[in-house]
Amino acid sequence: AHQWQGLIAEYRDRLPFDDSDPVVTLYEGGTPLVAAPKLSDRVGANVHVKVEGMNPTGSFKDRGMTTAVSKVKGEGMEIIACASTGNTSASAAAYAVAAGLGCAVILPAGKIAAGKLAQAIVHGAQLVAVDGNFDDCLRLTRELTDMYPVALVNSVNPYRLQGQKTAAFEIVDALGTAPDIHVLPVGNAGNITAYWMGYSEYAGRTTLASFDDAALHMPAVTDRVPQMWGFQAWGAAPLVLGRPVPDPETVATAIRIGNPASWKYAEEARDSSGGLIDRVTDEEILEAQAILAAEVGVFVEPASAASVAGLIKTGAAGGVPEGATIVCTVTGNGLKDTATALAGRDIDPAVIEPSLDAAVKVLGL
Ligand code: F0G
Repeated sequence: AHQWQGLIAEYRDRLPFDDSDPVVTLYEGGTPLVAAPKLSDRVGANVHVKVEGMNPTGSFKDRGMTTAVSKVKGEGMEIIACASTGNTSASAAAYAVAAGLGCAVILPAGKIAAGKLAQAIVHGAQLVAVDGNFDDCLRLTRELTDMYPVALVNSVNPYRLQGQKTAAFEIVDALGTAPDIHVLPVGNAGNITAYWMGYSEYAGRTTLASFDDAALHMPAVTDRVPQMWGFQAWGAAPLVLGRPVPDPETVATAIRIGNPASWKYAEEARDSSGGLIDRVTDEEILEAQAILAAEVGVFVEPASAASVAGLIKTGAAGGVPEGATIVCTVTGNGLKDTATALAGRDIDPAVIEPSLDAAVKVLGL
């Protein structure tokens, strides 16, 4: 019987791992690319969603964590650390368990969705809650890992992007070629950088962030790359404004980031691909989250819905080419943040006696 072997084993010939290197894996990757016919109708294109919430800890971060933590294991450090808006810390905590390493997570106090905090806690990470935002946490974590024998596993660690680029490989493998447009939410800008690297390498090209010689000497799999479209939250849109945002604010706490680490790479992805980076309001994000749930059948966390919100907004403005093949990455599972998804909804159904009559009455049948 075949089981997906995790992305290092599946894509080893395009990753900086030799057969003798240790591999720490929870069998991440291999996520579904789901056709979205109603969403396609809305925008007049052929839309698929890449459901990254199906990864072992419920977000795309696992792709970068298998590669980053495997390298740490090979180099012999015993503690990993990250700053996080929640998903990176959940993933780091789980992969530290798989690797037998210690894990410290540096978090903006009060701004982490409950499910993500629960993950870091149950996997035994040490939590440091900071009275500040993600950007403060990342600065602090870089200082910490510079001065102490602790390995940094944020996406400024280049092995993170190496793992994350495999999502683009999977999409090309599934579609047979690159899509016309790839749409992503953008926070710290690591993922848009990684996808651009993956698509470029599969087309036999290099990017600013590429460093993996093996990948660059592999034959091309496709002759094209997509336009890269990134969407930030309205109150946390430094790449759109062209300057850091000192006090980022959005309901999509995962992308509540004012000074993205991979800023110049994100601009390269946008400009080299002929794409765009725009912003969507919290209302548009929550509406797209509801549309994904009710019209596609995929429950995503708010930040993930920024991609679809951006696609819908651009479509309404006439900016989506008719019939284009479009992939939206939905980055994290909706179960991580049920409080936001349920806000303003009626969640207290009337309690009935256990009789068919009473149930039928409630259902209006
Ligand atoms: N979507 C989700 C669900 C995320 O958790 C993140 C980032 C992004 C999108 C944006 O990706 O940073 O590569 O541009 N979360 C990080 C974290 C910051 O700490 O979990 P990016």
